[in-house]
Amino acid sequence: MSNTAAGAQTIKSSDEYIAKANIKDLSIYKEAAADPVAYWEKCAERLDWFDKWHTALDWNPPFAKWFIGGKLNASYNCLDRHIKNGLGSKTAIYWEAESGEGKEISYGEVYKAVNKFANAIKKLGAKKGDRVAIYMPMVPEAAYAMLACARIGAIHSVVFGGFSSDSLRDRIQDASCNLLITADGGYRRGKTIALKEIADKALEECPTINNVIVVERSKDAINFKKGRDHWYHDLIADVDDFCEPEPMDAEDMLFILYTSGTTGKPKGIMHTTGGYMTGAVTTTKLVFDLKNDDIFWCTADVGWITGHSYIVYGPMANAATQVMYEGTPDFPAKDRFWKIVEKYKVSVFYTAPTAVRAFMKWGADLPAGCDLSSLRLLGSVGEPINPEAWLWYGEHIGKNKCPIVDTWWQTETGGVMISAIPSVIPAKPGSATKPLPGIDAKVLDETGNEIKEGTGTLSITSPWPSMLRGIWGDEKRFKDVYWSKWDQKYFPGDGARLDEDGYFWLLGRIDDVMLISGHNIGTAEVESALVDHKSVAESAVVGIKDDLTGQAIAAFVILKDGSTPSDELNKELSDHVAGKIGKIAKPKKIIFTADLPKTRSGKIMRRLLRDIGEGRALGDVTTLADASVVEKLKATYSEE
Ligand code: PRX
Repeated sequence: MSNTAAGAQTIKSSDEYIAKANIKDLSIYKEAAADPVAYWEKCAERLDWFDKWHTALDWNPPFAKWFIGGKLNASYNCLDRHIKNGLGSKTAIYWEAESGEGKEISYGEVYKAVNKFANAIKKLGAKKGDRVAIYMPMVPEAAYAMLACARIGAIHSVVFGGFSSDSLRDRIQDASCNLLITADGGYRRGKTIALKEIADKALEECPTINNVIVVERSKDAINFKKGRDHWYHDLIADVDDFCEPEPMDAEDMLFILYTSGTTGKPKGIMHTTGGYMTGAVTTTKLVFDLKNDDIFWCTADVGWITGHSYIVYGPMANAATQVMYEGTPDFPAKDRFWKIVEKYKVSVFYTAPTAVRAFMKWGADLPAGCDLSSLRLLGSVGEPINPEAWLWYGEHIGKNKCPIVDTWWQTETGGVMISAIPSVIPAKPGSATKPLPGIDAKVLDETGNEIKEGTGTLSITSPWPSMLRGIWGDEKRFKDVYWSKWDQKYFPGDGARLDEDGYFWLLGRIDDVMLISGHNIGTAEVESALVDHKSVAESAVVGIKDDLTGQAIAAFVILKDGSTPSDELNKELSDHVAGKIGKIAKPKKIIFTADLPKTRSGKIMRRLLRDIGEGRALGDVTTLADASVVEKLKATYSEE
């Protein structure tokens, strides 16, 4: 797997695609380059504002404020204005349960549900500025919960439903949430996951939570704490079906979303209402070339930023019709996604390279057995897509007629930053192509000088509306992580290469953050989960290349005296990590070792561990305190 440009071919979109596309020429790029702030103001006009801003941008690095003085509401922009425009009966969501049943939900129905939900939350005392944790399966109520919070001005913090009780607890504690919205359980491969039970365990150590709203999904028996827990259906039974949307300042917070960093503590990324919504509404329209009759399907979970921006806020602010699917791609069979595309006539399909590589492994016969002729555009997100997977995706899913947008962005950027607008920017398989209009992306060297052609570090060198406004409760970390490498230039943590045509080739993380199936997991998080086990004295974790998941976790573990390596312990440690963080953080390989390669100052040399894990010749070992350690480790690793 490689994503270098060697032999890179340029692929133009089909004439048919271009003829129907919203964007026909490069004028939008020129307009944005001539006056980026004016361009973003025009983008902000895609939203409905109660009051217009008086100042478009206040840039006091690293703090940006956009659309100052403007007032709006995200829920109003995703719902009310569509109802007012006569779109109440337009389908908002085709929800497909894992079991195969479906629900077609109109904008009018979503509007009513969100208004009631907002009143229910209000009834429990939640108000503007409160933090509300959402821990839900992929059911429409997850989106309703987010929009209901937005409606009353409460700040939501969605925690992915696959995370453990410890992860949920840490996130609730960090933001001092006072309300949790969850479900009794969610479906995964035919079985139920006891979300409420996991949440109950987390709540044992979350004294700030006063109320819990429980959506009924699995109908599994659950514990109900009197006075604290409330059934969603009971709460909404006797509330009004209109709730006045709270006029929010553009810079008022819309949500916090936690993402992993290089320490064990996740970062609560803060997004504000005006800027984030401007990014979401604009990028959805531009990148996905959205039309009124499109059936859009983003396969992400609402617990990730992709679900926030391209299930909830972007598509709904554009009044799009979309598919929301509850389950996994391989249940009950490995053609489930293609069956869904066929059933709902999906036209724009957005998924992750990990999924594409799984589809490749499962074989082209599966998509060939379904009618995919409704598809007109494909997207990729979360990690670099290798050219082989890109080409397979185009051929077997896109039938050589659908352009592919490889979209680079982050939780922190709020929306897509680097991606083709495929009607005007030809693709190169494996490259995210060029920055979107209004985005100032550069490749810089260590000292911050621009590299016109060659490899360096990606930077965004001017502010953009949907940029993160900070890390919840930790301004110092915000400055240190993103703004200390260069002066006034955003450091996303990714390596990049710029080719002779100005195309960006994203090379993955350059820090200690791993990308497992496109999801950020910090090495430190997994290490602290491992040393939390009674048998573990020390551990070092690295991301190693994996053909399916992009990266996989390799954990080097030193046991405490008295513990001995065994297959059972290996499994126990792996389960322990899953219990502490969630299944996505399970190490693929655990290597027991007596020592770790450390510098004389005691820093673990992860680079060497990666070399060992990926079977490469060892790099420079001269700075090691004890060079023999790596040779021993190498021998142990290859025996595994
Ligand atoms: O390394 C980049 C990778 O995913 C990181 C951001 O992860 P997260 O905040 O979880 O958001 C994922 C969904 C937007 C980035 O720093 N990444 C994301 N998209 C791409 C990518 N790497 C290469 N190509 C992409 N298209």
